[in-house]
Formats: sequence, structure tokens, C-alpha cells
Amino acid sequence: MKKWKSGYGLLACVTILLIVYALADNYIIDPGAESFLSHKTGLKRELNLPVWLNVMYVHVAFACVAMAAGLLNFSNRIFAKSRKFHRMNGYVYVASVLLVVLTSGYMAPHATGGKITSMGFNALNLIWPFITVMALVQIKKRRITRHRNWMIRSYAFCFTNLSIHLLTALFHQGFGFVYADSYTIGVYGSIALLLIIPEIVIRASGQLKES
Ligand code: HEM
Repeated sequence: MKKWKSGYGLLACVTILLIVYALADNYIIDPGAESFLSHKTGLKRELNLPVWLNVMYVHVAFACVAMAAGLLNFSNRIFAKSRKFHRMNGYVYVASVLLVVLTSGYMAPHATGGKITSMGFNALNLIWPFITVMALVQIKKRRITRHRNWMIRSYAFCFTNLSIHLLTALFHQGFGFVYADSYTIGVYGSIALLLIIPEIVIRASGQLKES
């Protein structure tokens, strides 16, 4: 129980920092996404910049709502206080995931790294809603543990952008790969990591409960 609490505290710190960083970076520090867009060279599809930027703002906004809503719903204390809040907030999470995916659907064809990266994002556009809907289906069937496990799997994808950028930096700055290739590796590497890490968390939390 103590370990679960400190795990939640760590998750809360990382998530809050990430939300503040995403909002500051995309709306205040670099609202034109100039740094990110500077890596887009030789795009097959022309980018309509004003539309792309507005879609990106909506994307980031709902990504932050999903991160915050998910975090609140993993809190045992909040759950114990109000099941109604947990339910309503859960629907906010699901709606936000769908809006992140919808906006991603617009941006994916223009992805840095070209068609291969676009395919990776399109895979994510199917995987994330599928996992999230599975979490919803499980709780409709009153299967609480399965619902919790599917939510752990779904919530991992809130860290997609962080994971892509960390892997991109590792391959680009660390191993000297071209930026676009590093980004493509970042996307596929993130899909793999974000599917594997939750399984480890689920196993570890199961053992914590038993011990
Ligand atoms: C939930 C946390 C997420 C946050 C905070 C986030 C944030 C961002 C930001 C800031 C960008 C602009 C480029 C950059 O600076 O990276 C972006 C681009 C993008 N995001 Fe997300 N994102 C998240 C999750 C996702 C997920 C789960 C998907 C796919 C289902 C996705 C698909 C995309 C796509 C396709 C682009 C355009 C990439 C490109 O042009 O190369 N994002 N995201």
C-alpha cells in the first residue's frame, strides 16, 4: 500500500511537470512550433500551416486534459471520496483520448520522417482508442481489476510525446542518426515501450497487493 502511494506520488510529479511543460512550450515559448517544424524537409504533402497549428493546439490541450483526468482517476483517495466524480472524470478521459486521436489523424500524413512515420502514428490511432474502449467495456461488465489493468495500459499512451522525444534525442544526439530517422525510431520504439511497460507495472502492482 505504501509502495503504491509512493508510486502514485512519483507519477503525479512527472505528469504535472509534463502538463506544465507541454502548455508552456506549445502556447508560450514556441507557439509557431518552429523548432519542431524545422525538421520537416521534403514533405510529400504540403502543410497548411495555420490549420496544422490550430489542430496541434487542440491536440495538446486534450492531451493535457487526458493526462490530468487519468491521473486523478488513479487516486485511491479521490475514488473513495466520490465514485460519481470517478465516473464523470472517466468519460472526460475517454472523450479526450478520442479528440487526441482525431487531431492526430489530421497531423499523421504530414509526420516528420514521411510515410513510415505516418504509418506508425496511424497504428497508434487504432491501438490507443482500442485499449481505452476495452477499459470502458470491462467496467461496464463490473470487472474492476481488468478495468484497472486496461486503464494502466491506456494511460501509458499519455506519455507518447515524451517517449518519442526522449528516443529521438537518444538516437539523434546520442548515436548521431539523422533527425528524421531518429524520429521514426522514436515513434516505433515508443509503441513497443508503451505496450511493454504497463505489463510490468500491472505485474508489479499485483505482487504488491498479494504481499
Ligand atoms: C497524450 C500526450 C501527448 C502530447 C502531450 C502530445 C503532444 C504533441 C505535440 C506538442 C506535438 C507537436 C510536435 C512536437 O513538439 O512533438 C504533437 C504532434 C503529434 N502527435 Fe501528439 N501528443 C500526445 C499524444 C499523442 C498520441 C497518443 C498520438 C497518436 C495517437 C499523437 C499523434 C501526434 C501526431 C501524428 C503528431 C504530428 C507529428 C509530426 O508532425 O511529425 N500524439 N503531439
